[in-house]
Amino acid sequence: MDTVAISLLTAAHIEAFKIIVGEKYVFVDEESLNNYAHDETEDLLFPPEVVIKPRTAQEISSILIICNKGKIPVTPRGGGTGLSGGALPHLGDVLLSMERMNGILEIDERNLQVTTEPGVITEVLQDAVKEKKLFYPPDPSSRGSCFIGGNIAENSGGPKAVKYGVVKDYVLNLEIVLPTGEIIWTGANVLKNSTGYNLTQLIVGSEGTLGIVTKIVLRLIPLPQYDLLMLVPFNAAEKACAAVSAIFRAGYTPSAMEFMERDALDWVSKFIDSSSVLIGDEVQAHLLIEVDGNNTDVLMQDMEGISTIVQEFDCGEILFADDAQQKAELWKMRRKVGEAVKSHSIYKEEDTVVPRAELPALLKGVKEIGKKYGFHSVCYGHAGDGNLHVNIIKGSLTDEEWNGSLKEGIKEIFTLTKDLGGTLSGEHGIGLVQKDYMDIVFDKTQMRLMKEIKKIFDPNNILNAGKIFPA
Ligand code: LAC
Ligand code: ZN
Repeated sequence: MDTVAISLLTAAHIEAFKIIVGEKYVFVDEESLNNYAHDETEDLLFPPEVVIKPRTAQEISSILIICNKGKIPVTPRGGGTGLSGGALPHLGDVLLSMERMNGILEIDERNLQVTTEPGVITEVLQDAVKEKKLFYPPDPSSRGSCFIGGNIAENSGGPKAVKYGVVKDYVLNLEIVLPTGEIIWTGANVLKNSTGYNLTQLIVGSEGTLGIVTKIVLRLIPLPQYDLLMLVPFNAAEKACAAVSAIFRAGYTPSAMEFMERDALDWVSKFIDSSSVLIGDEVQAHLLIEVDGNNTDVLMQDMEGISTIVQEFDCGEILFADDAQQKAELWKMRRKVGEAVKSHSIYKEEDTVVPRAELPALLKGVKEIGKKYGFHSVCYGHAGDGNLHVNIIKGSLTDEEWNGSLKEGIKEIFTLTKDLGGTLSGEHGIGLVQKDYMDIVFDKTQMRLMKEIKKIFDPNNILNAGKIFPA
């Protein structure tokens, strides 16, 4: 929004919060404030003035009524694994951690649905429904530590999205607390719904700016029984990207289609000290391709068909994962790429997404822009979705270049993304660090509509203020 709330947080407010949630769940000590000062976005640090850990929607409502009256900014936080700064309390003030709201309330096996609180770790939820032979597919790389509530806020994706869709495709209904303190359900626990505006989907991906999600109803699907995995090396990264759309055009829908540039796999091998993939000198990129289903013969045929297609794109010797252990090792490598890059150097992460067939042009353009501005990038991501994570490495760039002229380079990347029919973020959100690029993809009218929606939900602009929209 154009103006952000001016903090009026006082000792009296802090006492009131203690009465609402209990003294031991309100933190003002330096160590706690520092623990909640960061998420996984770059090296950004913004300590809040108070951390509150509520247990119920009613407690959140009482807190928000106070904050709304006092125009006190509130930053909601899930697992703190975000990559666009959505959970950073950059204005200070109140940090609302959802970690105590961590119950799976009901697995409804009759209707294939689960009702959960937002502070449940995504992998814990996946494992719980798996025990009932059910499947909740959206699986961000951080699934071992991210919260399902954060996934709703960002409309997260992950490798399985290419076949099974992203978070929005599973959310049926949400209980939310509005910044005014009112508690509502957004829809109904049904698979079809043509009843009024779709408030549920408005909340999904709204990055904690419209309301605080306190209960979530998700649809589930039957768990596929089998999967097969292969790792395909390519001598040219653009050819790996070109192979992706050829595979889908030939009629295959893999359950994962991940792209990794050479550096990504190289760095992650060192990071986790793995020698399970030997990367030939000529290899420039890999595709990690998975198929899943209930009929192994069909899966074998799919793998053969896909192997034939990738040969046309100058690939090297394909590694077929033999057993569960090898599959787990390859997935671990893929999931750890982000952490490996982060441990290597300070970096900025751009979450570009284009229509799938434009991926080769995007990659080529990113490298050209890198040459022009003097930066090295490591690219990887969900190639089947046209979703490329462009990691710009600080390397030998000076602080001046890093904080100054690089912004022009990033603008060029996003302009290229837009020109190719894509947009700024596929799954990481806009948050704090991408908001200045919003006008590349939205015109004044579009921005006005979004800002007006924000105003209706949050007239005093207290909830995650200063996120998504440029000042
Ligand atoms: C991944 C995260 C960074 O794809 O989105 O690993
Ligand atoms: Zn990703």
